[in-house]
Order: sequence, then C-alpha cells, then structure tokens
Amino acid sequence: MLPIPYRVTRRVRETADTVTLAVAPAGPDAIRRHRPGQFNMLYLFGAGEIPISISGDAERGELVHTTRAVGAASRAFCRLEEGDALGVRGPFGTHWPVDQARGRDLVIIAGGIGLAPLRPVIDRVVNHRGEFGRVSVLIGARTPADLLYGSEHATWRARDIDVRVTVDAAPGSWRGRIGFVTQLIPTLRIDARAAAAMVCGPEIMMRFCARELRALGLAEERVYVTMERSMKCAIGLCGHCQFGPDFVCKDGPVYPYARVGPRMLIREL
Ligand SMILES: Cc1cc2nc3c(=O)[nH]c(=O)nc-3n(C[C@H](O)[C@H](O)[C@H](O)COP(=O)(O)OP(=O)(O)OC[C@H]3O[C@@H](n4cnc5c(N)ncnc54)[C@H](O)[C@@H]3O)c2cc1C
Ligand code: FES
Repeated sequence: MLPIPYRVTRRVRETADTVTLAVAPAGPDAIRRHRPGQFNMLYLFGAGEIPISISGDAERGELVHTTRAVGAASRAFCRLEEGDALGVRGPFGTHWPVDQARGRDLVIIAGGIGLAPLRPVIDRVVNHRGEFGRVSVLIGARTPADLLYGSEHATWRARDIDVRVTVDAAPGSWRGRIGFVTQLIPTLRIDARAAAAMVCGPEIMMRFCARELRALGLAEERVYVTMERSMKCAIGLCGHCQFGPDFVCKDGPVYPYARVGPRMLIREL
C-alpha cells in the first residue's frame, strides 16, 4: 500500500491537455516489472492518488505514464517537471493477452487517451514483428490536435503495421479521415476466425467496436477491452471499483468482451 518514491526523468507534452512522464526510482526501491495493460497508482502529496496505465515499452525497463488533465489530481500530475517527486504503487491488474495473440492477426483500436494503455502492445509488435500476422492500429481522436504519439506513427508503419487515424472534427487543412473509429472496422483485412482485438476508449465506443468486430466474424472471447472505474486501494479491499461481481482493480482492467459486454449494457453499473 505504500507508494515508492520516484522522480520525473523526462516530460513530453503530447497535446494541450495530455502529458507523458517517464519516472525513475528516487531511492533503492522500485516497483516490479509491468506487463502491457497494467496500471500504477500515482501519488502526489497534496493532490491525491490516481490510477494511470503504464504507457511505455515493457521491455525497455523505463516506467512511463501518459496523463490527461481532467480534474485536480490529473492536472497536478500534468504540471510536474523533470526532477519533481511523486509516489508509485503497482503494477496492478490484468494485462493484454499479447502472448496468446502471437501467430494471429491483431487489431488494436484506441479512442483518445485509450491509446496510452495500448502503446506497450504496439511496442511489443514493433520489437517482435515476426511473431504476429497482419497488425492494424485504428486510432480515433476528437481533433488532429488531440492525436497522441503522432511522431511514432511513421515508425509503426515502417514495421508493416497498418495505422489508420480518424478524427471527429478537423480544420479545413486536415487531409485525413473524419468519422468514428468504428467505421474503419468493416474495411479491415484480417483472418477473423483467428484474429485477436484489443480495444480501449469510452465504453460506448468499445461496445460499438465489439459489435463491428463480431459482424466481421471475430468471436467475443478474442475481443479484449479495458474498463475504468473509480479506484482507491487498487488491491481488491475497498470496493470502490466494483463492477457487478468484479473488482476492476484486480479482476480487470483488461477483460474479454464476452465477460463484460452484457454488464456494459446495464446503466450506471
Ligand atoms: C485502470 C485505470 C487506468 C487509467 N489510465 C489512465 C491513463 O493512462 N491516463 C489517464 O489520463 N487517465 C487514466 N485513467 C483515468 C484517471 O484515473 C482519471 O482521469 C483520474 O483518476 C481523474 O482524477 P482527478 O482527480 O484528476 O479528477 P476527478 O476530479 O476525480 O474527476 C474529473 C472528471 O473525470 C471523471 N472521472 C474521474 N475518474 C474517472 C474514471 N476512472 N473513469 C471515468 N471518468 C472519471 C469524473 O467523473 C469527473 O467528471 C485510468 C483509470 C483507471 C481506472
Ligand atoms: S480499488 Fe479498492 S477494491 Fe478496487
């Protein structure tokens, strides 16, 4: 339960409201190595403690988080500079089943900040491209200015990853796609009988993605989503993150859609 002291080693402003921080231990203690899709509890004295996904390459040993400023605590994390101190607990939760996706076509679908927990999966594909079949990354953002990790898309494409971007609205100078990320799914060229999909974004977006993927022939057992719920302890004790019979902090956040899809239809659950 005790946060381990860390310091910011690198700060990247991604968009107007989103910042990526790389952090390193400030003393002898460090958290365990993470797996793609897991999250940490980040603690800032006087601001609070919030769950944030690990957005960096799990194989590089560097601990990276990307935070969107939505309230008091997340805004305080976005204001941190190199050298500033914070506390880290984790890593917590289930992970994307990247090993089971080896040898298969893989579809990664992200809406907004949802790309953060999926970037470690993309890093894994980039590092071990030969282990996977066709890989598509579908990215949706509100506007072109809200796109995350734009400078990395060329690297991903150079590793034979089909990266497609769409935005909800754009200025006249935008030459890319406008529309929902779900509209890109019917155009995917994958072996749906064996492919796996990993999806992160608002719940309504994940539900419609699952529907489109099912229409392509992809079984709900091989569609994975990641759930967000308010969290306090992150170790299954306090009940803040309850979602039906589950505690998202330990039973999730990554789930097969087949398990949580029906629950996502229940309002306010
Ligand atoms: C497992 C997990 C991983 C996450 N990973 C990331 C990440 O990588 N990057 C990132 O920017 N954010 C992530 N979040 C969301 C992040 O934890 C919240 O944005 C943060 O807790 C908000 O705290 P705050 O004090 O800044 O805002 P608050 O004052 O608590 O809330 C501000 C607004 O955001 C809404 N809100 C707060 N928490 C959540 C939540 N968990 N889900 C939906 N709406 C919420 C509130 O209803 C309110 O409208 C993750 C959440 C979970 C559960
Ligand atoms: S955050 Fe306490 S049980 Fe999940």
